[in-house]
Amino acid sequence: MKSRVLVTNRIPAAVLQRLESDLEIDYHAEKDALSHDQLLDRVRDKHGLLCVVTDAIDARIIKAGSQLRVIANIAVGYDNIDIATAKKHSIVVTNTPGVLTESVAELTWGLILNVTRRVVEGDRLIQSGFWKGWALDFMLGMELFGKQLGVVGSGRIGRAVAARASVFGMKVVFAARKGSNDTTDRSQLIKSLKDSSVMPLDRLLATSDVVSLHVPMTSDTHHLIDREALVNMKPSAYLINTSRGPVVDEDALVLALREGLIAGAALDVYEREPMVNSGLLRLSNVVLSPHLGSATHETRTAMADLAARNLMEVLSGNLPITPINS
Ligand code: DGY
Repeated sequence: MKSRVLVTNRIPAAVLQRLESDLEIDYHAEKDALSHDQLLDRVRDKHGLLCVVTDAIDARIIKAGSQLRVIANIAVGYDNIDIATAKKHSIVVTNTPGVLTESVAELTWGLILNVTRRVVEGDRLIQSGFWKGWALDFMLGMELFGKQLGVVGSGRIGRAVAARASVFGMKVVFAARKGSNDTTDRSQLIKSLKDSSVMPLDRLLATSDVVSLHVPMTSDTHHLIDREALVNMKPSAYLINTSRGPVVDEDALVLALREGLIAGAALDVYEREPMVNSGLLRLSNVVLSPHLGSATHETRTAMADLAARNLMEVLSGNLPITPINS
């Protein structure tokens, strides 16, 4: 008998075909995501679940899926899944680390350049027909050369962002996150990135010109960037977040931007996606992208492929390739 799998989102045709050759697939190909009730209903008879960051795989879903053996998340982050409950029910959970590192790093740099050089603000000005022409003091931004990039989170993505900094002549500093299980040897890390060093978060915030967040969403990192952190930053500094929305206290950020506590922010992720704090919408020194970190053709295909391979390995009785909880 073939194992039954629920695929909650559209995936590349080749990946779907491979799954279909071995498994019985219940494929949700619609644009609208499955509701919680629909998920509850469709997971009941399944052995595997291939899901995405917007699917809230909570205790109710996991308990309803009483035959589940594997939950394969098409994402590196897995804060959408109740890992403890999955573990209690001996369900393997997997994610997709590695394959999205470069895409997220590239988007991060896109945001850094956009917000420091006011590209989106300038685009809005031209589109609205109000550009009056070149002037020596018109729309000045911050040069990156010689400045300090503070990278919060020294996992794969943080390191990939840092590795690109030398091209812009920036000095890199890392902050170690609290409770990290990242086993990177810090001296190796520093050696591998010329001109980089590690410092406590509060010092990084106080001395960096650009602060870029690359931590997973955990109870330790919830509102890591709060009012106190923002007060600590330089008034000329920029905050970039391509990690998870709740790492930043959005209300505190809106206030900080309004009060000029920092120079600007560029965000790809939000506390209550797809809702965006209305205070962020009216600010000219803010660049907002709709959770596009991994959104390249190459990366999304690789993510779906890795998640599918994880799923097939577990359902064939083998070890997963990139497990979270085993
Ligand atoms: C991830 O992989 O966690 C991303 O946020 C999904 O795009």
